[in-house]
Amino acid sequence: MTIEGRHLPVLLEETVAILQPRSDGCYLDTTVGLGGHAEALLIESAPAGRLCGIDRDTEALALAKGRLRQFGSRVELRHGDFARLGAIAAENGWGPFDGILFDLGFSSFQMDNASRGFSFMRDGPLDMRMDRQGCDKSAAELLARIPERELARLLQDYGEERWARRIAARIVDARRTQPLTTTAQLARLVAAAVPRRAWPRRIHVATRTFQALRIAVNDELARLRRGMQDAVELLAVGGRICMISFHSLEDRIVKEMLRGWARSEPPRVHLLTKRPVVPTERESEINPRARSAKLRAAERC
Ligand SMILES: C[S@@+](CC[C@H](N)C(=O)[O-])C[C@H]1O[C@@H](n2cnc3c(N)ncnc32)[C@H](O)[C@@H]1O
Repeated sequence: MTIEGRHLPVLLEETVAILQPRSDGCYLDTTVGLGGHAEALLIESAPAGRLCGIDRDTEALALAKGRLRQFGSRVELRHGDFARLGAIAAENGWGPFDGILFDLGFSSFQMDNASRGFSFMRDGPLDMRMDRQGCDKSAAELLARIPERELARLLQDYGEERWARRIAARIVDARRTQPLTTTAQLARLVAAAVPRRAWPRRIHVATRTFQALRIAVNDELARLRRGMQDAVELLAVGGRICMISFHSLEDRIVKEMLRGWARSEPPRVHLLTKRPVVPTERESEINPRARSAKLRAAERC
């Protein structure tokens, strides 16, 4: 099976049910990844529905291009950051859209590739950049210079890590003798910093540290806010925005922004999900990555 075939899109049926793709519709996937959701939207909007898509990751985008080639001129894909959505849409003459999707975070393709440095399960360079051609610093570069207090704050804020200060102290101590360059080195340091009795039962002891660094390296939360602000401007009246998030920090931003638009005078959207839609037990069993997913959606007034 191909890499893109192995990646299971999260909350796929629920996303399609909300976006209700039509043959005269035009859709935007801001996180095309391996093209799983995009493919479903194109199938459901056959024969003439159109899809524009972007991703920060050129390697994922190349795979998505291959997968979606069968849809010919119905698809347009570009390398880009959703924080620049307004500019990208203007440059390409895109919009307004009948549906916009954000499927946040990283794909299994990025996670499973040791050379990308996202995973503590596979030893690789401590990179974690979604866009290796962009100007973000790698996790190794960030860890080489960041002051200890700032690092502790980052682990606390972005990883909600209880042992943030101990982990930060351990990292700063270790880098005095040897630069931190690999995921295994970092995972070992975190394991040594957290007392064994306090190791979490359901997740790896380094999960929160890796999440925090990934968010910081890619400036994910600020980009999410900018992307959503641009997206609401690009929605046609009656168009729908569908947001899939994977941790509480993202979900909080999504919830607050959607509510803010719904409460503005006059309202810019009405909410389609009072509570987030979550995966069925069956989906979580088949695809453990889906377990933490939450979907929220709204319709442009
Ligand atoms: C969960 S995956 C998307 C999977 C996709 N829906 C599918 O079915 O194959 C998230 C994708 O978002 C991309 N991404 C993350 N931040 C981004 C940003 N600021 N702009 C554009 N793409 C981004 C990542 O590179 C990754 O490919």
